[in-house]
Amino acid sequence: DKGNYRHFMAKEIHEQPEVLGHAISQYLKFNEGKVALPEGNDFDFSKINRLVISACGTAYYAGLTAKYWFEKYARLPVDIDIASEFRYREMPLGEGDLALFISQSGETADTLASLRYCKEQGMTIGAVVNVSESTIARESDLIFPIFAGPEIGVASTKAFTCQLAVLASLAVLAGRQRGHLSDAQEKELVGALSELPAHAMQALKLEPQIEKLAPWMSKKHHALFLGRGTSFPLALEGALKLKELSYIHAEGYAAGELKHGPIALIDENMPVLVVAPFDGVYEKTVSNMQEVAARGGEIALFTDEKGAEAAGVAANQMIILPELPEIVAPLIYALPLQMLSYHTAVFMGTDVDQPRNLAKSVTVE
Ligand code: M6R
Repeated sequence: DKGNYRHFMAKEIHEQPEVLGHAISQYLKFNEGKVALPEGNDFDFSKINRLVISACGTAYYAGLTAKYWFEKYARLPVDIDIASEFRYREMPLGEGDLALFISQSGETADTLASLRYCKEQGMTIGAVVNVSESTIARESDLIFPIFAGPEIGVASTKAFTCQLAVLASLAVLAGRQRGHLSDAQEKELVGALSELPAHAMQALKLEPQIEKLAPWMSKKHHALFLGRGTSFPLALEGALKLKELSYIHAEGYAAGELKHGPIALIDENMPVLVVAPFDGVYEKTVSNMQEVAARGGEIALFTDEKGAEAAGVAANQMIILPELPEIVAPLIYALPLQMLSYHTAVFMGTDVDQPRNLAKSVTVE
């Protein structure tokens, strides 16, 4: 049931404040300022030397974001790969280490094959899934449900942000268990995560402004998304969403890679969508933006007030988000990117909930 929405995707985008609230309530003890795993799924991250993550598509981008978190907050090395590569790579794995598989459906063939490979190697298997009765969940030792509720739109939206919410909680837990986060730091991060629903609500208010970008976006044949740090996986996700829904060719790049190749594409016909909250790497991204501007590229900048002030170059378009704690920024910046691809697709008249050639769950290789 789409309720009052035109598409499932719109409904699922708008459900995010609610489902994020539900998801974090299952992992965070707000009053105590602590992370606590759902019953029966306790895990001690201080016992492992390495975390291995494998997933496909949007779920892979959630894992890529989590790598930054686990490494920063828990000093836990993370190896991550797309499942279709991982399963054939014959990677040496540490017995007893944890392997995490992220999958909305819990049925993705390559992710499942990767899981089985890790199991054979004697690893502990954890599943970050939306469907708790799925094959991936059933074959796992630990289940970390994302509580997003059914996701019908083929393009993943609320599952992505709920995956991130769960992974952020796990990273904070790992940080405390491994002695890299004090109780006070854990409390601060839990406090930041507890504000997710409110921030998501704020981000949804940008919709009318983002809808206005759709006619502009729809005239383009290509688009480049740039981001640094945790905004890099978001750039990849923004590009995937746009190409899935509107069939506009889009690529996501780490902003620092610009001069290693993609800058050759920049001219007045190339829109560049920059995801850059005012964080520790913001200045670096600005210098990449200047390189784009100098070559006539059209920039749409997703940032906050401080970022807008410090931008230094005239971005053609600016979408201003609230100022956010570092750990919640990737989740909230996902929303305007989802809305951009949604409205571009609606404007172009493509099939939003069932884009051509795609299936919701990819159960064959
Ligand atoms: O069900 P899964 O999370 O395992 O699916 C993984 C990908 O197939 C999925 O995220 C796909 O990339 C979506 N269409 C993205 O919007």
